[in-house]
Formats: sequence, C-alpha cells, structure tokens
Amino acid sequence: MYTSKMNLLLAVTCLLGSVLAQTKLKVMPLGDSITEITCWRSIVWDNLTAAGLADKIQFVGSSTTNTQNCKASTATWDHHHEGHSGFLAIDIANKYLTGWLASAKPDVVMFMLGTNDVNGRHSTTDIMAAYTKMVQEMRAINPAMKIIVDLVIPLPSSNAGITAINNAIPDWIKTTTTAASPIVMADCNTGFPSTDLRDGVHPNLAGDAIIASRLTPVLISVIKSALNITTA
Ligand SMILES: *[C@@H]1O[C@H](CO)[C@@H](O)[C@H](O)[C@H]1NC(C)=O
Ligand SMILES: *[C@@H]1O[C@H](CO)[C@@H](O)[C@H](O)[C@H]1NC(C)=O
Repeated sequence: MYTSKMNLLLAVTCLLGSVLAQTKLKVMPLGDSITEITCWRSIVWDNLTAAGLADKIQFVGSSTTNTQNCKASTATWDHHHEGHSGFLAIDIANKYLTGWLASAKPDVVMFMLGTNDVNGRHSTTDIMAAYTKMVQEMRAINPAMKIIVDLVIPLPSSNAGITAINNAIPDWIKTTTTAASPIVMADCNTGFPSTDLRDGVHPNLAGDAIIASRLTPVLISVIKSALNITTA
C-alpha cells in the first residue's frame, strides 16, 4: 500500500521529469577536434547561463569527452557534443551524420568543419558538397532544423584551402537556407590571429574565447527565435 503510493509518486515524478526534459531545445555542437578537444563549448555554456537560457537547452551528441579538462563556471555545463578528432566533413556527410542525428534528435546543429579535409587536399567543391549533403541529412531527420555554420579558424600550414571554404560559405548559405530550416553563419575566422592557436591547428584559451564570442550571439538569437522568446 505504502510502497505502491511511493511507486506512483516515483512514476509521476519520472514522467514529469521526462516531459520537462523533452521541452528543452536540443543543440548539437558538431565538428572535428576543434569542437572536441577545446574549451569554447564551456564558455558558450557560461554565456548561455548569463543570458538566462542554459536551463532551456541541452547540448546533445554521442560524446562527453573533456580532453582539456575545461571548467565552466556552472556545474550544469552539458558536456554532450558531436566533435570527432581527425574527422573530415566529407566522411561525416557520407558515413556518420545520419546515425548521430537519429540518436540525438537535435533541434539546432552548429558546426565547424573542413580543416581535416583541407589538410587532406580535398577540393573546396567537394567540401561544400559535403556541407550540402549534411544539411539534407539534417532536414531529413528534422524538416525544421536550425543550422549554424561557423567560418573555419585559420590553419597556417594550409590557409588557402580554409580561406576558400570561408569565402564559399556566405553564397552557399544564400542558396541553401530556407524559411523552414534557416542557416546562419558565425564568423569565427575574421581577426583570429595564428598566435591564438596552441599547436598550429587548435585554439588556445584566447582562441576559444574568440570562437565563443562569435558563436554565442548567433546561438542566443537562434535559441530565442526557436523558443519564441521576444524579450531582450
Ligand atoms: C562569455 O563568457 C566569457 C567568459 O566568462 C566572457 O568573457 C564573455 O564576455 C562572455 N560573452 C558573452 C557574449 O556573454
Ligand atoms: C513558436 O511560435 C510558433 C508560431 O506561432 C509556433 O508554431 C511554435 O509552436 C512556437 N514554439 C514554441 C516552442 O513555443
């Protein structure tokens, strides 16, 4: 008798918990090592907390690695992400993304990709085709997917390829964005000095701060629009 009441209470609490969890907007940080083994995700989370939005969203993805032992100021930092060190946009588009999306079911995907493709001498055309395929896969899972595409940070050893992708992205967005599934850009490249790379590829803490400072306002705007939040 007592136990069954407690079980009922537990069941109701769990149900309520899962309903509340389901109402959170799911944001997937997608990328390569610049997403996985860096600290900008924790800074963005702090920024969302400061904006009063952290409790309305969750980061999603199959990984929770925190290689650099980054510390957000809030214990609630959601470590989930879909950053995979060494991965190419081309391979993510052709082999992995549909499965990741099916598991995580994001409402928003934000990605920086192309560095490993450029490093592997893939053409800008092939990289942008991979971007297009990724967007098709996102919309197949969620026709209302909101997408944020980052301009890629510098790669001093091969910067011409990075510049070519970044130059292609604005026009690619114009032809690929739709009202139902808008694509917006976060400029993580302009004014990013190569001295803010710790190893010639990955951002140091100053570089992480640049990425977060460019991404945060765009993400906040996307979150507010998705949640119909009109207050400043
Ligand atoms: C984001 O957080 C960092 C670290 O706390 C802070 O320096 C920066 O000003 C914040 N940016 C925004 C847009 O809140
Ligand atoms: C936001 O508003 C639109 C249009 O009124 C509505 O279709 C949608 O369900 C709302 N979304 C949320 C999260 O309230």
